[in-house]
Amino acid sequence: MTDLAPSPPLAITEFADRGAMVDAAAAALATNLRMGLTERGVASLAASGGSTPGPVYARLSKAELDWSDVTVALVDERWVEPHEEGSNAALVCDTLLHNEAKAARFAPMKTPDVTPLDAVGAIDQTYADIPAPFDAVVLGLGADGHTASWFPHAEGLAAAIDPTNTRRVAAVRAKPSPVAGVYLDRMTLTFAPLAHARAVFLLITGEEKRATLETARGDGPVEDMPVRALLRHAAAKLQVLWAP
Ligand code: 6PG
Repeated sequence: MTDLAPSPPLAITEFADRGAMVDAAAAALATNLRMGLTERGVASLAASGGSTPGPVYARLSKAELDWSDVTVALVDERWVEPHEEGSNAALVCDTLLHNEAKAARFAPMKTPDVTPLDAVGAIDQTYADIPAPFDAVVLGLGADGHTASWFPHAEGLAAAIDPTNTRRVAAVRAKPSPVAGVYLDRMTLTFAPLAHARAVFLLITGEEKRATLETARGDGPVEDMPVRALLRHAAAKLQVLWAP
């Protein structure tokens, strides 16, 4: 997907500080989950890892809703065990899946398979059983323009961002970079489950990441800054929350 079209208008809400963004993000996620529960009797959330969303998940864990009818999934996973450093499953379990949210179902991505490529079929089947579309998705933005585990020029990126890919997940191997760090092998949601979600919240903090977003909104290959796949083809779904 290499188109040079500039991005369409984007909903960006700026907060005075990160605490205000955390409160607003947690409230919005709870509202979307409640809407799903009201309309469908079930609801689903897809949660990213990284350093930003933890406080949001902790705040959301206290929300009073029918968590026993909610499935919490991952947007992506580094290919490490839950007890190992860097696990997104551990982050979500430690910050979200307690308090009121303890009753939620959780759908991890990591399997005993040596590589995520060996696990794509199994995880795609697991994720096929999650109520779709997601009622809410939490995304972050890397300084390199990645979101989910759509890393620039990663092996498997084309399939991950292909709108016609009917699989919900894809295996990617990021190019070595300071942003990807030691976690090169990853499982990630593909384009469709993110683009078809009922609400997608892109949480960004700091001036550097705000500049990254503005660069991504300009011209250039999607492969250079894969968040462009959503900015150009699913902007209407995106709600950007930014704090300094
Ligand atoms: C991961 C995340 C990743 C994250 C971005 C932004 O597994 O690393 O899912 O996509 O959202 O790297 O991370 P921050 O929240 O630290 O800005």
